[in-house]
Amino acid sequence: MRYDFDAVVDRRGGDSIKWNLYGDGILPMWVADGDVLSPPAVIDALVKRAQHGVYGYAGAPAVLADLLVKRMQDLYNWTITTDDLVYVPGVVTGFNIAARAVATPGGGVLVQTPNYPPILNAAANHDMVTQTAELKLVEKNGVIDYALDMDAFTGAITDDTKIFILCHPHNPTGRLMNREELTAMAHACIERGVVICSDEIHCDIILDGRQHIPTAALSPEIAQHTITLMAPSKTFNIPGLGFSFAIIQNPELRAKYKKVMGGMVPHAGIFGYVGALAAYEHGQEWLDQSLVHYAGNRDFAIDFVKKHMPQLHITNPESTYLSWVDCSRAGIEGNPKEYFQKFGVALGDGRNFGSQVGDFVRITMACPRSLLADGLEMMRKALEPLS
Ligand SMILES: Cc1ncc(COP(=O)(O)O)c(C=O)c1O
Repeated sequence: MRYDFDAVVDRRGGDSIKWNLYGDGILPMWVADGDVLSPPAVIDALVKRAQHGVYGYAGAPAVLADLLVKRMQDLYNWTITTDDLVYVPGVVTGFNIAARAVATPGGGVLVQTPNYPPILNAAANHDMVTQTAELKLVEKNGVIDYALDMDAFTGAITDDTKIFILCHPHNPTGRLMNREELTAMAHACIERGVVICSDEIHCDIILDGRQHIPTAALSPEIAQHTITLMAPSKTFNIPGLGFSFAIIQNPELRAKYKKVMGGMVPHAGIFGYVGALAAYEHGQEWLDQSLVHYAGNRDFAIDFVKKHMPQLHITNPESTYLSWVDCSRAGIEGNPKEYFQKFGVALGDGRNFGSQVGDFVRITMACPRSLLADGLEMMRKALEPLS
């Protein structure tokens, strides 16, 4: 079956944070929340469950755990058991639990920059200390990319560092770390007694047939020091259903993680389980086609920027549906995000992705091509008076 990722669904006036924040007249492309319809199998399963009419406390279906175990084996040749799984309502919740499970106030939380803002802010939530290692910006033919700076990484680890929250695949750059890079970072952490929390929420949005490597799948030793976080939320555009999962193979670490959750963190609700199960069971064909659509959107954006806004420099993401755009040579006074918004498009504010990051904006491209084209055209018009 062919799925239509170009169908425009009206989300205005509903419950969407993305569409309500800036109100009418602004096209929102800021948060990583897609505007594409979820797989029909997910919609059908939710409707069916809703029609049952009784919504009591629900346990996770055993078949879901079995499916996740099989998924890790099939996709990554990574052997886990159902005991290793811990369900959480969200990945942000998941890495905040991880910080509390392994560090106390004053402890160091290592992160890379630029980075997804809630990862950068996790330490502060628990009176811990943020320790940053910058990624290296490289540019070629108007396209920007980021490389791991291993010296910066090891240099940022101190005796106080307790946890490294890795964003992999990387938001906002779309970089997919390779086996060597992941192994080097993991060993540097293990040598210094640092637990790795690998946020792999974007692990299924891998473009052009590339392969994602879960950090914990690198070796059984690395798995013993790693908390992995995954979810169907970005993959199948169901973030509002509130279902995510942690994989923790070290029983002591898992016990600490569950202890922090005790009495504080609920598991997913009925619709989270139903949606996740339907998505993983029946969503593969939809997912395959969504990746083609997202790669097409990425190529369209790169082409548009090169042709019509060469003063901007854009990433060529290997994963995610996010574009990261350097606006520092566009002659914009002040914050580019605020500037573009005056012309009708709300982008992600690069300043939230790390204090030293500079004049960047992030574009969420999980949308019909026509919306992406509208947003890019608004950006082009915004730059006209500056050229
Ligand atoms: C890297 C990363 N982690 C976590 C999240 C959000 O996770 P959740 O909504 O499950 O808390 C996002 C959403 O953009 C993200 O990009």
